[in-house]
Amino acid sequence: MPLLDRGRLQSTAADAQEEPSEASTVAKEQRTRPKQKAKGKRLQQLDKVPGKENEAGPSEILLDLRKLDGEPHALHERRPKLASRPLGPLGVRTRFVPTQSAAANARIMLEDNKVTLYGTRIPNIWLRDNCQCGSCMHESTRQRLQDTFAIPRDLSIRSASHAKDMEPRNTHVEIEWSDGHKSTYSQPFLASAVAGFDERCNIRQGFVEPTLWTAKIGQSGSPIQSPPWSCSCSRLTRPQRKYGFCYIDHTPHDTPLATEQLLRRIAFIRETHYGGFYDFTADLASQDTAYTNIALEAHTDNTYFSEPAGLQAFHLLSHTDGDGGASLLVDGFQAAAELLRTDRSAYQVLAETRVHAHASGNEGISIQPYRGFPVLEHDAATGGLLRVRWNSADRASIELAVDEVETWYDAARKWDALLKKKENEYWEQLVPGRVLVFDNWRVLHGRSAFTGKRRICGGYINRDDWISRFKMERFGQEKVLGALAGS
Ligand SMILES: [Fe+2]
Ligand SMILES: [Zn+2]
Repeated sequence: MPLLDRGRLQSTAADAQEEPSEASTVAKEQRTRPKQKAKGKRLQQLDKVPGKENEAGPSEILLDLRKLDGEPHALHERRPKLASRPLGPLGVRTRFVPTQSAAANARIMLEDNKVTLYGTRIPNIWLRDNCQCGSCMHESTRQRLQDTFAIPRDLSIRSASHAKDMEPRNTHVEIEWSDGHKSTYSQPFLASAVAGFDERCNIRQGFVEPTLWTAKIGQSGSPIQSPPWSCSCSRLTRPQRKYGFCYIDHTPHDTPLATEQLLRRIAFIRETHYGGFYDFTADLASQDTAYTNIALEAHTDNTYFSEPAGLQAFHLLSHTDGDGGASLLVDGFQAAAELLRTDRSAYQVLAETRVHAHASGNEGISIQPYRGFPVLEHDAATGGLLRVRWNSADRASIELAVDEVETWYDAARKWDALLKKKENEYWEQLVPGRVLVFDNWRVLHGRSAFTGKRRICGGYINRDDWISRFKMERFGQEKVLGALAGS
């Protein structure tokens, strides 16, 4: 028998007066909307499957057959449609990260033997599966220790009350389950479980509101971050997330060692077929135009990998007997936002058409991603722009029938014009001592031709590794780990 039936857990009288906040209503709407859309879309597709309409038999079986029939077709469509409308770079990121105070005001109820918060009933299996006690979840690694599927399917709540010894008071609920196990959950934990999908994305993906920029960012008085070499890691990763790049000044440049140490402070350096941390002169030692002295148009690196590097760093250690070689940066998210504003159908083509790429210059190697990826890659669930992939030199096939490819070329021409628009090109002459670190999923880079001998060092860092560093510093370990199940 539950101690509390259709009543909230005993708490302060003031709390009892509160209604669910507007924020929670919005969060609930956001949570339910994508589901309804997805359901509608599925039914539409199912209804179109020919030859299945008149089949006799239980409806569940019919649905299963249709699913099997329809899904492989959808998977191999030439131009797979996005599950949601592409929103561009600002769609998800500008939404708020839930605050601790909203969680503290959460009203925990017990309805029909289910813990209920903001009107959402949390299934008992989910709560029991996400018990945070030391025997169910490893205290330091937060890995699950229990056998989820040994939990009885008909598990119920035997009793529920406020945990007496937890501080602050009345913010933890203690549950005794029908299998005898006892679990304690905090209000912020439960609030995170029922949070809106977009809110969950913010912590999981380490989103902050980005500042989009143009060539003007190079003018004096602009907010370019240039922390010194000895600064803390958070001063390196924050501007990366906000602007997509930063400089690190006063880096020793007599040898590449200090630059390597700097990168390793963020995360480990990624090995590729070109090596790990690099230190090169323009001698075409690796077979790639990056190792020559010709001009390079704005591009992102690693379009030929299934997962391109997240961060890239350059440090010009020396430049003798010549000149040129200015660095070019273009904010790909800014250009994408501009394209979305001015030509939504071109944007849609670049968001939906898969393009292949390759790296085949080194003997015995032809690296290609496991599938083609669109130039503007979106999170299919939220519609937010995740990643820009653009390197015309490394492009291979466009995943369209050949008599349809003009559509892509027309859209790509508009995109290319935006990248080359003078107002969008930020040029800067790098100097020894100043390391450039930028987000390769957002910012395109290039350079002008040069003469003389340049020595450059740098390296790649994986996206997940640097975002992990950023999230832990931005939100803190407790919040990141506390939101694992709900986020
Ligand atoms: Fe490059
Ligand atoms: Zn437990």
